[in-house]
Amino acid sequence: MSILDQLDLSLPLIQAPMAGVSTPELAAAVSEAGALGSIGVGATDAAGARSMIAEVRERTGRAFNVNLFVHGPASANPAREAEWLGWLRPLFAEFGAEPPATLRTIYKSLAEDAGMAAMLLETAPPVLSFHFGLPPADVLSALRERGIFMLATATSLDEARAVEAAGIDAIVAQGIEAGGHRGMFDPAAPDDALGTMALTRLLVKNTSLPVVAAGGIMDGAGIAAALDLGAAAAQLGTAFIACPESAADDAYRAALAGPAAYHTTLTPLISGRPARALANRFTALARTVGNRLPPDYPIAYDAGKALHAAAKAKGEYGFGAQWAGQGAPLARAMPAAELVDTLRLELQACRGNP
Ligand SMILES: Cc1cc2nc3c(=O)[nH]c(=O)nc-3n(C[C@H](O)[C@H](O)[C@H](O)COP(=O)(O)O)c2cc1C
Repeated sequence: MSILDQLDLSLPLIQAPMAGVSTPELAAAVSEAGALGSIGVGATDAAGARSMIAEVRERTGRAFNVNLFVHGPASANPAREAEWLGWLRPLFAEFGAEPPATLRTIYKSLAEDAGMAAMLLETAPPVLSFHFGLPPADVLSALRERGIFMLATATSLDEARAVEAAGIDAIVAQGIEAGGHRGMFDPAAPDDALGTMALTRLLVKNTSLPVVAAGGIMDGAGIAAALDLGAAAAQLGTAFIACPESAADDAYRAALAGPAAYHTTLTPLISGRPARALANRFTALARTVGNRLPPDYPIAYDAGKALHAAAKAKGEYGFGAQWAGQGAPLARAMPAAELVDTLRLELQACRGNP
């Protein structure tokens, strides 16, 4: 049975989960239009995730996806964190602010959040997806017994093999072009930085699971190309940021529509893990950071968010986490249902079926 049949989709399209950007309203609009809408709950707690799931359910009876972060637990290092805050101090001063005295682990991995796992088992969303790694085997088997369809990100063949061995239903092949955090399991390991095309092909040929291509796909031609590579579906994130239903603020939307969209860059400086963002003042810090290492993920993000808040309070929006993929200049601002319909028509046109 194909993913389309299993999830009752009329289009091989997943709107990517985007913590802080995708909303229940966006996910429901996409699911209602026949694709799979997603919410990202990785940066919230069980109570926040529970209310987001309830809100999607109020808006649609169709399948939707709930995405979790499964990173290795953050390891605090007060000396490194103090050094990092000291380095950022002049930037805070530019906005008349002080850096925070200490940094916190602002959200937990599903791997260490029993409350989140219990809430997921109780509410049983139709689809779950995992980023940065896999939940413990006992959690996975309990979720499977609840009949939940599960996806997990892989950025390499080794990660895909781990996903397959864990009994996950489909693999999201996330290429280097992708916006947002790179889902690699171990950010300290060497990264071959495979593009979506090569990675999708590798996983299609070497695993037996359906592969969902993600990274740099912005229109029907991109979806058609992914399907031609053997993907079962395409997952698009950046394409949905400019939808009115997303939570992106005005500055983010303006940056996406402007020249910065042509210059996305992968940076670990904002959150502590590599993520692709629109070029802005934060990503430009790569030029002066030298050998300094940011604190562990997501501890560094606490500093990044504080700096953004201080700058924004003074009208400087260049320190936002404006995640976007390499296809950013192709983003279109239109309601999500209209975007899904447009993608459907473009895909049909590529198939000689206008
Ligand atoms: C703003 C933004 C936030 C993202 N947040 C998440 C997330 O919370 N969980 C996740 O699995 N992937 C996240 N991603 C990555 C997407 O799942 C997907 O890999 C990516 O959007 C595909 O590349 P594209 O943006 O070029 O379409 C995010 C991407 C963006 C652009």
